[in-house]
Amino acid sequence: MAGSRGEFSSRFGFVMAASGSAVGLGNIWGFPTQAASNGGAAFLLVYLLLAFLLAYPVLMAELILGRHAHSNAVRALRQVSPLRNVSQIGALTGIVGFIVASLILSFYAIVAGWMIAFCLSAIAELAGARAFANWLTSFGLWRNLLSMLIFMALTIGIVSAGVKEGIERWSERLMPMLLITLLALVLYVLTLEGAMTGLEVYLLPDFSRALSPQLILDALGSAFFSLSLGVGTMLIYGSYVSDDENLPLLGGIVTLVDIFVAVLAGFLVLPAMYVALHNGVEIFTQAGALISEDTLIFTVLPQLFATMGLPGILVAIIFFNLMTIAALTSSISMLEVPVAYAVEEFNAERHLAAWMIGGLIAGISGIILLNFELLFGLVVTLTTRYGQPILGFMFCIYAGWLWRRDALLQELRKGYPNVERGLFWKIWPWYVKLVCPLIIAAIIGRSLFG
Ligand code: PFF
Repeated sequence: MAGSRGEFSSRFGFVMAASGSAVGLGNIWGFPTQAASNGGAAFLLVYLLLAFLLAYPVLMAELILGRHAHSNAVRALRQVSPLRNVSQIGALTGIVGFIVASLILSFYAIVAGWMIAFCLSAIAELAGARAFANWLTSFGLWRNLLSMLIFMALTIGIVSAGVKEGIERWSERLMPMLLITLLALVLYVLTLEGAMTGLEVYLLPDFSRALSPQLILDALGSAFFSLSLGVGTMLIYGSYVSDDENLPLLGGIVTLVDIFVAVLAGFLVLPAMYVALHNGVEIFTQAGALISEDTLIFTVLPQLFATMGLPGILVAIIFFNLMTIAALTSSISMLEVPVAYAVEEFNAERHLAAWMIGGLIAGISGIILLNFELLFGLVVTLTTRYGQPILGFMFCIYAGWLWRRDALLQELRKGYPNVERGLFWKIWPWYVKLVCPLIIAAIIGRSLFG
């Protein structure tokens, strides 16, 4: 079985693909403002700790389950136990996982399409096509549909080329590009007037804010989204890792890259917001909080770019290109989940499976766009606030309670012969068994009961 499946050809390829999945829109449009509004450097520290205390163990559960089975989530969870009921619930969890992954992709593709539209708009502006540039930045059904379809076609094109030729090759190209672009933008923005105030706001530590229990639960929820957990993306990427790789190390690197990019994005976004303020752009909501998420990306930053003249247009092209890349390396991991399932369980041809499933997801995105007010927020909430944590909980139960400890150990030993002597084996099994399910239950409880 394993021989006929794809496999990452190198450690670098896996790290780029998995951190590409993790690093996405969430890192750039969510994290920086969340940090700045909630204790600055203190929040960074708390977040770093939380990512390693909760998100990393769940990531490891997915990677180990995937590598052990060398197959999709449905089969991997089905195999964990010989008991019929446990096996059936496992398969069901895998199926719900790929449905949730597809639904996340259906809204993600819409937002990523806007990034493409804003990038194209800046190019059109440069070419003097004003009217077209305006059309691309105004919220309308055709603009939304078209840009979503372009983004989905890119995603499908990469996934249909396969694990090595598509996902690995493109992640290896796009991720270094993303890091270099982000770094270049940070350095440029830091030279502008007002930037240092933003930096202060971003980094000034305030522990009283960063330690509130409510905030910690919210941060845990975003760590889950940020590391692409619960829906089987990391499981399927883990299933393409060779047996002689040290999984705890690989998982640690992916977690660190994800956090690093989120923190680095703060060095861009916060200074940019205060440069905007300096240039007369409003950056606070009526309640006095920093503007965040879509309004930040599609209103505040474009207003800032508009105040900068020609350099502003170039920065806009580079910035929205960066956002598109971040989204693309994430979306391919989402599409890979159902595609791998179709290829492995039904012997579907990869090209066909990618185009058909991708087409179906684009159809769902279309339905969301036609009923935007009603459906968009609903799909986001259902998948990210409930779907991901509930499925993450199930992964912990399968890895922590239902899988035999000796089988687990054997799997880890493959690429890490002395694993029993390391810290990982002393802590992780307990963590994934007791601590993670409890914390995730608290997150779900907070989503349910406020
Ligand atoms: N980790 C991505 C981000 O931070 O934007 C989002 C994501 C990717 C969520 C893949 C879920 C997923 F399966």
